[in-house]
Amino acid sequence: MAAAAAEEEESSPRSSSSPPTQMTSISRHSFGESGQPHAFTLEIIENMQEDYGMFIWPCSIALAEYVWQQRSQFSGATVIELGAGTSLPGLVAAKVGAEVILTDDSSRLEVLDNIRKMCDLNKVSCKVMGLTWGEWDTPLFSLAPKIVLGADVLYDTNDFDDLFATITFMLQNSAGSVFITTYHNRSGHHLIEYLMPELMQALEYHRATCLSAGPQDDSTCH
Ligand SMILES: C[S@@+](CC[C@H](N)C(=O)[O-])C[C@H]1O[C@@H](n2cnc3c(N)ncnc32)[C@H](O)[C@@H]1O
Repeated sequence: MAAAAAEEEESSPRSSSSPPTQMTSISRHSFGESGQPHAFTLEIIENMQEDYGMFIWPCSIALAEYVWQQRSQFSGATVIELGAGTSLPGLVAAKVGAEVILTDDSSRLEVLDNIRKMCDLNKVSCKVMGLTWGEWDTPLFSLAPKIVLGADVLYDTNDFDDLFATITFMLQNSAGSVFITTYHNRSGHHLIEYLMPELMQALEYHRATCLSAGPQDDSTCH
């Protein structure tokens, strides 16, 4: 089992006399039993003043754990992470031998820059690119991932059509590919049970796997 982050280190601590600082911190996330040959720890740079893509959401930790547990499936596979933010699942996939493309909204340059820094910090070689859901830039057409990851990407209903269109395109471009997501039940109005038919319809005959990361629900649906 992966041991979730226990350690946090604030790189720009605030003192009572100083104004608010950048609030950048590094959290450490360990996978495998320490001392075992395959065990490793990843360092994630977070900034609590930014929203969405600059800190780790619980879904990301759940999906990273899934990648670690299923590492034999990931080794050697081409993996793309959508809305990667702090990118923990994609970084785990890279550590276990996947060829990984980490993506986030093309306009969120600070998020993309942070992803590049984390690749360097953790000594993994991933491709990092801007990929905004529903936008059809040329590089998208050359992507043929075996596995598409998305941690906590189903949170704004305004984005669903664009997100589903991007996922559908990728899965259709790559035979036998799969979309794996973790979902956070934030309210009774956004239960995964209601979203799944829409998602499944959008993906048509493609297989979607959903791991729920809500507080009361740890079910897996296919
Ligand atoms: C709730 S955060 C999840 C971040 C990360 N996957 C995690 O679980 O910690 C949603 C992520 O989706 C990205 N995002 C939001 N809208 C997007 C869009 N239209 N296209 C691409 N990425 C988007 C955000 O920048 C952010 O990184």
